[in-house]
Amino acid sequence: MQACNEGHVVGYGDDVYTEQAVSQLKNIFGKDTEIYFVFTGTAANVIGLRNITHSFNSVICAETAHIEEDECGAPEFFTGCKIIPVPASGGKINAGVITPHLRGFDFEHHAQPRVVSITQATELGTVYRPGEIRALSEVIKPHGMYLHMDGARIANAAAFLEMDLKSFTRDAGVDVLSLGATKNGGMYGEAIIFMNSGLADFFKYYRKQGMQLASKMRYIAAQFTSLFSNDLWLQNARHSNRMARYLADQIAGIPEIKITQPVESNGVFAQVPASIIPKLQQEFFFYVWDESRSIVRWMTSWDTTPEDIDRFCVLIKQLVG
Ligand SMILES: Cc1ncc(COP(=O)(O)O)c(C=O)c1O
Repeated sequence: MQACNEGHVVGYGDDVYTEQAVSQLKNIFGKDTEIYFVFTGTAANVIGLRNITHSFNSVICAETAHIEEDECGAPEFFTGCKIIPVPASGGKINAGVITPHLRGFDFEHHAQPRVVSITQATELGTVYRPGEIRALSEVIKPHGMYLHMDGARIANAAAFLEMDLKSFTRDAGVDVLSLGATKNGGMYGEAIIFMNSGLADFFKYYRKQGMQLASKMRYIAAQFTSLFSNDLWLQNARHSNRMARYLADQIAGIPEIKITQPVESNGVFAQVPASIIPKLQQEFFFYVWDESRSIVRWMTSWDTTPEDIDRFCVLIKQLVG
């Protein structure tokens, strides 16, 4: 970002830095993809969905999905679509839970199913295997529907799967991907990848209407160029995943604490004695995921250190002891 701060370039993405970042991502996902940058993950999801829907459509997603739970109704507000949350096991959905909603096609009284949206890695830190993604795609494609992926933490999923990004997105049937940088060491900024260029015909207008056309686009683009040079994105994700694993291993021996989800990315979900939560939160910020069951969400990041985790675990042991 310092380097691209030198001199002057044309605004709104018509610059060499944006061109470079786009071409780098095209090398990953394919030359015939369309790539756009926005400021936030919510915007990536919402405008990405806006582009492939009409107001009379529905979008099926996990009941735990960020688009359902944590975007303040923005997907409904901007797209006009009906969001249909379905039961998710460990944050994942499958053909069994979406099939009952694949109905009413061509019936004017029914919202027309158009998109299935999944999150990779999921909001519960689990990771879809490529076969699970392909299976969803195969169920919906005969209905002319699209598969959307919220990839705010896609780097963590790639690190866990030890697979390249294309193999479990485009090659598995994903049509539109929100590709996150912010949660993987970026300062801000996300990319939207349309796997089929025809899907992006009107995107630039929706992005502008959505107030996400950055005049100084180069500062978002430069972050992607840095992350995707020398595999920095993957190193960061591997590190945060390792730290989550380390945390899970450290707390595995504490009988008062129960890990509730498989640790597959950079999150550890744990059921803890309710009494220790406020005291832990005084020292370390984290969200309570499910207050009724006293389940908390502990996230690690690209710069979490083993010493951070050791300090955290020492405090936990003191509080439960
Ligand atoms: C799964 C998921 N998707 C999307 C987002 C949205 O990101 P932002 O806060 O940048 O809008 C988040 C942020 O927490 C997230 O966890």
